[in-house]
Amino acid sequence: SEDLLLSNLIGEVLALGDFKGKEGETLFIYASGEVDNRLCLLGLGPQEKASVEGFRKSFGVLAKGCLSKNFKRINVVVPDVFEINSSEVIQGVAEGLLLTNYIFHRHKHRDPEEPEDHLIQSIHWITSNPDVLKIVTEIETVCEAVYYTRDLVNECADIVTPQYLSDCAKELARQSNAVKVEIFDRAKIEKEGLDLLLAVSRGAAVDPSFIIMEYRGNPRSKEKIVLVGKGVTYDTGGLHLKPLGGMETMKCDMSGAAVCLGAMSAVSKLQMPVNFSIVIPATENGIDAKSYKPGDVYQSFAGKSVEMTNSDAEGRLILADGLAYAIKNLHPSCIIDIATLTGAIEIALGSEAAGLMSNDDTLADELISAGKKCAERLWRMPLYEEYKERLKSDIADLKSWNGRPAGANVAATFLQHFVKEGIPWAHIDIAATAYLSEGKKYIPKGGTGYGVRLIIEFLRNRFKV
Ligand code: BES
Ligand code: MN
Ligand code: ZN
Repeated sequence: SEDLLLSNLIGEVLALGDFKGKEGETLFIYASGEVDNRLCLLGLGPQEKASVEGFRKSFGVLAKGCLSKNFKRINVVVPDVFEINSSEVIQGVAEGLLLTNYIFHRHKHRDPEEPEDHLIQSIHWITSNPDVLKIVTEIETVCEAVYYTRDLVNECADIVTPQYLSDCAKELARQSNAVKVEIFDRAKIEKEGLDLLLAVSRGAAVDPSFIIMEYRGNPRSKEKIVLVGKGVTYDTGGLHLKPLGGMETMKCDMSGAAVCLGAMSAVSKLQMPVNFSIVIPATENGIDAKSYKPGDVYQSFAGKSVEMTNSDAEGRLILADGLAYAIKNLHPSCIIDIATLTGAIEIALGSEAAGLMSNDDTLADELISAGKKCAERLWRMPLYEEYKERLKSDIADLKSWNGRPAGANVAATFLQHFVKEGIPWAHIDIAATAYLSEGKKYIPKGGTGYGVRLIIEFLRNRFKV
């Protein structure tokens, strides 16, 4: 009878025309004035246009409404009346709610009058289908990894140092038997000859580190995916110091590294039957009398000398050493790097897609379709031979930077010099997608975790797991 009362009430509301069911439309109804009877109508748009992304967006709006009203628990009743694949419906609903339910407030003092925090504490799934719960649990695990990545990006640069990233790697390795970790300190970095990483770190008061983590979830397979992440814990620009307005968000410059750690966390917690490794060259790009000097030549791990022409183009230097080291020592079947590499990618694509450059069409297509599936879109940019001309140097094997045209593509071309031909390689530029100054849809402002779901989706598709 309560159900009947409820459906009558909803019928009346609909008859009034106050609620049209447009995508993302919400109407909160207080059925009997009691808190436990709060109800929210959520519009999903026309059924024939239903999509996973539409569900993420609508349920993101719902979660924002719940956050603003300080709801602590929400129940999701799972219906199966939708045209599109029901596991995708669940994915859209769960990701919309979970990805929105995030705030970074570690450094805010709480008003004593306020409740503990502003997050939804529990989302309870009402379903009799065990498959639904299995899907939801996996999505929760991946979203936890996204939170972890966001926290790393949002936390202050004086806390998240190269040493801190190393400690995170060690902690993840402690939690899983399938994960091995190796950390190079400054002395070992010198011994190995990762000299571009050393060059960038010269202006910093904190030591650099070089992190290698290997997860073996399928020991019988020779396949190994290696992900290299840019770990610049703060980017001042170096002697080519960034101007006012250019530096304030540069704690985000280790987002690539944070994606590596987040993806490693998800892969190991999901116990995926894949072999997946991460490599993180980590340093601050500081400014000091000891700073590396524009116009000087520095050696790379790969043996090529580099005329450093812009101290703010530091990411490509440390990635060059990371890629070359990984290819020489980890024997990847394919290698992907992810980095907040260039402001130019923001000019090209905004935050609607990350940039993708690759020497391999199959790998590029796999990544693009993974990006479509999880709505972490990638847009492929060219690696024209002509870009190589731009990096020719009179005094070294190549220079690191040469002007603004096609800045993101030329940066990728620099990296290409450090990748062996024949090894499928992709570069993902997340400079515009890793960190948002304004939140959007179901992604709160600040660190987004962009890339974690992409990598998991890519691994799932490639290995059919
Ligand atoms: N970390 C920056 C790129 C960046 C810009 C990340 C905006 C996130 C938001 C990178 O190291 C950098 O400084 N790039 C320069 C280009 C370089 C060639 C001078 C830039 O984008 O201006
Ligand atoms: Mn820079
Ligand atoms: Zn940078």
